[in-house]
Amino acid sequence: HDVLQVAETGNLPAGGRIDELLAAAHARALGHHEGAVADYIPILAGVDPELFGVSVVGVDGVAHDIGDSGVRFSIQSISKAFVYALLCEALGHEEVFDIVGVNNTGSAFNSIVAIELNEGHPGNPMVNAGAIATTALMPGDTAEEKWAGIASGLSRFAGRRLEVDEEVYRSESETNHRNRAIAQLLGSYGRIRFDPSAVVDVYTRQCALLVDAHDLAVMAATLADGGVNPETRERVVSAEVCRDTLAVLASSGLYERSGEWLFEIGLPGKSGVAGGLVTVAPGKVGIGAFAPRLDEAGNSVRGQIATAYLSRALGLNIF
Ligand code: DON
Repeated sequence: HDVLQVAETGNLPAGGRIDELLAAAHARALGHHEGAVADYIPILAGVDPELFGVSVVGVDGVAHDIGDSGVRFSIQSISKAFVYALLCEALGHEEVFDIVGVNNTGSAFNSIVAIELNEGHPGNPMVNAGAIATTALMPGDTAEEKWAGIASGLSRFAGRRLEVDEEVYRSESETNHRNRAIAQLLGSYGRIRFDPSAVVDVYTRQCALLVDAHDLAVMAATLADGGVNPETRERVVSAEVCRDTLAVLASSGLYERSGEWLFEIGLPGKSGVAGGLVTVAPGKVGIGAFAPRLDEAGNSVRGQIATAYLSRALGLNIF
């Protein structure tokens, strides 16, 4: 609240001023060392906790990058937002709405009890259960076809061909008993009409796709731009799909912390356990941040602080 709001909501400051404010946001968050690197996926525990990059990409395609914005990390849960968008594009939002839902569970991202309390319903596409159900619904008769659609779709959002970090994929595959349990449970409720193990494998691969903060900003800017990638000018999804996706991000993108996030930052966002964070200011910019230390809900601490600063300083809060 001590951040000066430079721009009125509705107008972005000139490019040079955005660079200055981005530098200030980065400097402010750099002083924070609280939180902890995720270690339930063993390979993630070894990452340098001081890495920190932020990028802002406008719907005009102009990019502002600072710090470690070119360092790659696994996209993890942030993939859920973009796979959901691809699925809504393929199937239409009604069908996805019925099966996956759009309500916050109020529970952790990998909660099993939330599924049980909901009579087998996954809740929303941003928690693991809903994301696994989303991946299961992707077009294709085989897991390979589903994977091909996800990999090429997320690459179109980023504007470059994204690759899997095989080490992350292997590390998570060897330890993802909980996600397997979630998939089997959803299968028992008839919520996954595909081999649950094969779906978890595709989901684990999608989470291991490598991005940097700049990629995340471009992906977010594509959602901010009504579905057109501002760098490649390719339409990736429709404007309606962007609207649906952003609504779900607003209510559930930061899990049980989504209310606090919306209250402080006032923008749709999505976090991942490798430390990535995307934020969308509709019609204006996408913000990508990367800093591995997380709060208790699994959201990047420095990413949230820098994004809060930018939301305020750039007048991005949609409320
Ligand atoms: O399924 C998992 O647990 C991870 N692949 C992704 C979880 C995640 O990123 C949660 N986010 N903050």
